Amino acid sequence: MSTRHEPRIALYPGSFDPLTNGHVDIIERGARLFDRIIIAILVNPEKSPLFTPAERVELAREVFAHWPNVEVDTFNGLLVDYAQAKQASVLVRGLRAVSDFEYEMQMALMNRHLSPDLETVFMMPGEAYTYLSSRLVKEVFALGGSVTGLVPAAVERRLLAKREQAELTTRVGSSQK
Ligand code: PNS
Repeated sequence: MSTRHEPRIALYPGSFDPLTNGHVDIIERGARLFDRIIIAILVNPEKSPLFTPAERVELAREVFAHWPNVEVDTFNGLLVDYAQAKQASVLVRGLRAVSDFEYEMQMALMNRHLSPDLETVFMMPGEAYTYLSSRLVKEVFALGGSVTGLVPAAVERRLLAKREQAELTTRVGSSQK
């Protein structure tokens, strides 16, 4: 039997606002399983994100600079259409806990309905990340808590820079009143 095969391209779609160490864990697992894995960042015009899509792309590229088979891109519209454009045959999603299951199952089955050949593969992150989410990272950071160890160092630096910028703007604003 031949071992040659078409390169297996996987997408890892999400908002990544911001990228957490839980995401990083899943991406590293995916990069070991598939020939290429594309971090596909959803550009959602309805949401008001903390990081712009361009900032999220830049951060993900910085974190995975030394992983030659990890790519970073943005998408909008239907994920299945983007997958087809990228010739991806697999969608990777992380499953942290039972509470993720219902939403993930609905998405996976809807995507299968729309594109029967596109397979969703669920991966479990390391147990240290099972409680971690971008939403909680943003909340903890906004309330002054430490996010060290929860997000890559590059993301933490950018969060701190955003806070400094916001404080500066507030100080300048109040001194002009
Ligand atoms: O990180 P998230 O917010 O859980 O990611 C959700 C995402 C981006 C995977 C999902 O919202 C998505 O695929 N959006 C694209 C629109 C789409 O294709 N919707 C139908 C799929 S069920």
